[in-house]
Amino acid sequence: MRNRIITSIFSLFTVVFSAMSQVSFDFSTAQRGPVIGPLHYGIFYEEINHAGDGGLYAELIRNGSMEENSGNPDYWWTIGDATFSISSKNLLSAAQKRAMHLNLTKAGDGTRNIGFWGINIVRGQTYRASFWVRTANNWTGDVTLTLESYEGADLGHTTVHVSEAGQWKKYTAEITATGSYQLGWFAIRGSKAGTIYLDCVSLFPPTFKNRENGMRRDLAEKLAALHPRFMRFPGGCYIEGGNRYQWRHTVGPVEERLGIYNSHWGYPVSNGMGYHEFLQLAEDLGAEPLFVVNVGMGHGWFQDYQHIEGFIQEALDAIEYANGDVTTKWGAERAKNGHPAPFNMKYMEIGNENSGKDYNERYILMHKAIKDKYPGMHLIANVETQGFRNEIVDPHLYSTPDRFFNGYFTYDLYDRNDPQIYFGEYAVTQGGGRGNLIAAVAESAFMTGLERNSDIVIMSSYAPLFIRTGWQAWNPNAIVFDQNRSYGIPSYWAQVMFANNRPDKLYRVTINDGSSPVDPIQGKIGFGTYRTQAEYKDIKVVKNGVTLFEPDLNNLDGWNRISGTWSAEGGILKQTSGNPDTLITCGSPDWTDYTLTLKARKISGSEGFLISFGVQNRELRRWNLGGWNNSTHAVEADDFIEEHLAGSIETGKWYDIKIELKGSEVNLYLDGKLMKTQKRLKGGRSAVDAGIDESAGEVILKYVNGTDKPVTYTINSGKTGAVGTVKTLTLTGDNPNAENTYEPPENIVPKAGSVQADSAKFQYTFPAYSVSVLRWKK
Ligand code: AHR
Repeated sequence: MRNRIITSIFSLFTVVFSAMSQVSFDFSTAQRGPVIGPLHYGIFYEEINHAGDGGLYAELIRNGSMEENSGNPDYWWTIGDATFSISSKNLLSAAQKRAMHLNLTKAGDGTRNIGFWGINIVRGQTYRASFWVRTANNWTGDVTLTLESYEGADLGHTTVHVSEAGQWKKYTAEITATGSYQLGWFAIRGSKAGTIYLDCVSLFPPTFKNRENGMRRDLAEKLAALHPRFMRFPGGCYIEGGNRYQWRHTVGPVEERLGIYNSHWGYPVSNGMGYHEFLQLAEDLGAEPLFVVNVGMGHGWFQDYQHIEGFIQEALDAIEYANGDVTTKWGAERAKNGHPAPFNMKYMEIGNENSGKDYNERYILMHKAIKDKYPGMHLIANVETQGFRNEIVDPHLYSTPDRFFNGYFTYDLYDRNDPQIYFGEYAVTQGGGRGNLIAAVAESAFMTGLERNSDIVIMSSYAPLFIRTGWQAWNPNAIVFDQNRSYGIPSYWAQVMFANNRPDKLYRVTINDGSSPVDPIQGKIGFGTYRTQAEYKDIKVVKNGVTLFEPDLNNLDGWNRISGTWSAEGGILKQTSGNPDTLITCGSPDWTDYTLTLKARKISGSEGFLISFGVQNRELRRWNLGGWNNSTHAVEADDFIEEHLAGSIETGKWYDIKIELKGSEVNLYLDGKLMKTQKRLKGGRSAVDAGIDESAGEVILKYVNGTDKPVTYTINSGKTGAVGTVKTLTLTGDNPNAENTYEPPENIVPKAGSVQADSAKFQYTFPAYSVSVLRWKK
């Protein structure tokens, strides 16, 4: 275990590790750290993994609008001798392109729907059903709506009299379930032979806050338990592409909404859960709505400039819908849809994971247009735009537990003059199973670092939020559900712990491990390319005035070719394949504090140069010049912050590159100009953070132990006076790979306890692989 001393100038209380090592940390109640702003912590909702349709959106009928058809209506079956087909004539609304044409040959014939992998029927629960019907040949009669088992057992029914023929009419009814069945059906039967057309069939269980077109209760309650301060929606990649989400198609009566195919995550979306419902949900959760708009770009998708005005108008209209007076066009629509009072939306994000020159230009245009009309809006950029002062920037991180542990220090080094941070998406996605304990522990270490830097990091959200079992487009996801059950993975519970134990003000905790806090950067050098052909020459490595390496580049002796097609001839090292991530290395793994100089020229291809330093086996640190489709330069490594600088590499031009290692720091030069100085991070496997919850009058201490050993502290709480009961909350488990499942769902959840502090000095043991919160009255 690494020895670590955490000290500060005005030490008022001390926590001392007594087991394993003599390590302590002191922190100051006199010298306060940043105030934690009102936006910690939030949620990011995206329509991914059937998060909405078949998930949070409580609608139980699948393909109620009859728009999803591979022949006859999908997810519908006939009953008795009935036959059905798709009709495209005399439709219900402009949005509805199809209806079900149902022929009943006798009384009791009909059709039934399986819902999203089965309808959950709960005895005693009252369901709200509705359907639109148009009948042919003056058919009028009774229609019976039944909740039933797979075998057809009646679990509750009601009868509706269809009194009007020839015209579309909506009928509504309530059905109280007389039995329970988890994989049930919903059936519609006619009382006599005839032809009817059905559309927009709907069935809702009781919803969260009893909203009419509302949310599934257990899932929304899991969101409520997070006490989200904001809700970012509706994506993510979901907002991108040819079929992208367009909010104007998602408001108003459900039968007038256009569904879309969610091409990014691979399934149709009804848009029953539309912009209005998102705003309503945010309000019901007490969360600030944060709407993400598209700026004509996305992963692999691009609309040319002539469309930009349309995207800007779409964003402006969205704000008018959320906030406008009822005398405005969209404010009046909102009132018509049941919410005359403004939703008071203050946050908007422009684009999702966009970058480069085009994003830069588009961002500035959209930012200015929005600020001109709505100066009070807070606008979030995906990356820092060049030549323009951003308010808030949204980095994302999906990586390994180690990267998250290292990330504990990320914002300690951040320039306080740079924009504020909304860390909008993060999760351990490698080495975290389907959401295991070590992932939650590592993310907690990272979050502790975010919280400690709340002056800069004003908001954050884990991603993604939901997954419907059996429909996985992403792994892991915070809340797992099927038609009747749901559970949170350990990362969900870590979010609950942080959100519910949020100090108002932090104490300043300074970390120092006694000697050099961060190890020097150490290792070989390497060269590479990404789908690019390039040449390198005049390569030289110098340390303290002594040349360590200066190859003649007439052969590859002493080089270690990892990938790509490499040659060395006439003093030039050349890579000619079009592969992504080519690499050749050389030198010693023991090298530290050296300066690498070289010249590099791009021959052809889509990006620029990859120059590696501090290479150890598989651990790679590289300066990527002209990366991300030749739009930016940044260091890529697990122990560095990936700070992107706009820039590109021209074909045919020789560039002078210099990389200077000084201990744990690296200076990066391009054509003689210092582009960036960056410092290596090393978080170890523990993290600490403390502050005060003013309203409760309680001190909150958070400690993350990512090691495989428990650590015992003698906590000297000094003037904060932990005498009496110290409340504890611990998230831990038998092993770092432990996961939650439906049975038993309560495997890795925070467990509450308490210890007695007889004096201001008491002992506490933090278990291996754990996230702990201690609270005591100040
Ligand atoms: O959270 C899943 C996806 O990850 C989001 O859609 C996207 O923004 C990111 O790439």
